[in-house]
Amino acid sequence: MTEADLYFWYKGMYLSSSLHVAEGLKSYEEFIFHPDDILIVTYPKSGTSWMKEIVPLIISGGDPASVTSSLSWERVPWLEVNQTHADYSQRPSPRVYCTHFQYNMMPPSFFEAKPKVIYIMRNPKDVFTSYSHYSEAATYMVDPGPQTEFLQKFLEGKVCHGSWFDQIKGWLNAEDKDRIMYISYEEMITDLKDSVARIAQYLEKPLDAEVIEKITEQCLFKNMKQNNMSNYSAIPSESWDKKKAEFLRKGVTGDWKNQLTVAEAEYFDTVYSFKMKDVKYTFPWSHPNTQ
Ligand code: A3P
Repeated sequence: MTEADLYFWYKGMYLSSSLHVAEGLKSYEEFIFHPDDILIVTYPKSGTSWMKEIVPLIISGGDPASVTSSLSWERVPWLEVNQTHADYSQRPSPRVYCTHFQYNMMPPSFFEAKPKVIYIMRNPKDVFTSYSHYSEAATYMVDPGPQTEFLQKFLEGKVCHGSWFDQIKGWLNAEDKDRIMYISYEEMITDLKDSVARIAQYLEKPLDAEVIEKITEQCLFKNMKQNNMSNYSAIPSESWDKKKAEFLRKGVTGDWKNQLTVAEAEYFDTVYSFKMKDVKYTFPWSHPNTQ
């Protein structure tokens, strides 16, 4: 099916007609943040589910039940996806949410209440690679089709959730950066224990070294894959074709080298250099080709 069948246009980007229903978008637009809320923000395929495992474990002081007793999307709901069962006002403090939306799309209360934000970024070539497999398996996404065409759509932001470049630039240029923790998927892969410790510090949740160790162990790819509340095995087969891809697919950096041709990677670099020329942030990928 095509974009016209599966997507609609909302504030300058495609969204999914089945996921982003009018009622959900209305509740996001009117959402009232609390100052002690925690918002996990990502472009799709950058490590959202991973952070949805880490943050509840940190808040609960390492209690495994925080991630084994409720599904990932229930314990950390999407701001923009309608979940009729989620009574936001009843959630215990601190409430944790996630979003793929851009900075300039945040509802007014976000700028008043100033909740904590954890922004995760990932090498866009690996994002593209993960997104391709995800789009093949998720029936609510447009099939990626020929790779060169999908790459062009991705680089132009004509995919569900819009442009990776606009998303990352908006959040990196946020006015109130001191309440945002920026962390990359690559840092988390390189040193998960240190990442967990830094996230706990940012969340002002002091934890003993052994609790940090325990959380780190629980959040390793191989262990998270065993957690049926987090590995997306609960997605109904009408929404996800498990034969095509698993949600927790590879969990590595640099898989783009198995996905992109040399010409596609070079083209990606050219577009990246142009679109990111004014960005001063030092990414773990100094240039996407070096990862
Ligand atoms: P791959 O498709 O490259 O494997 P999101 O949750 O934002 O949709 O991101 C999904 C990506 O994060 C997938 O990447 C998935 O495998 C990876 N991921 C999820 N949990 C992970 C973990 N514990 N360790 C490493 N990668 C993880």
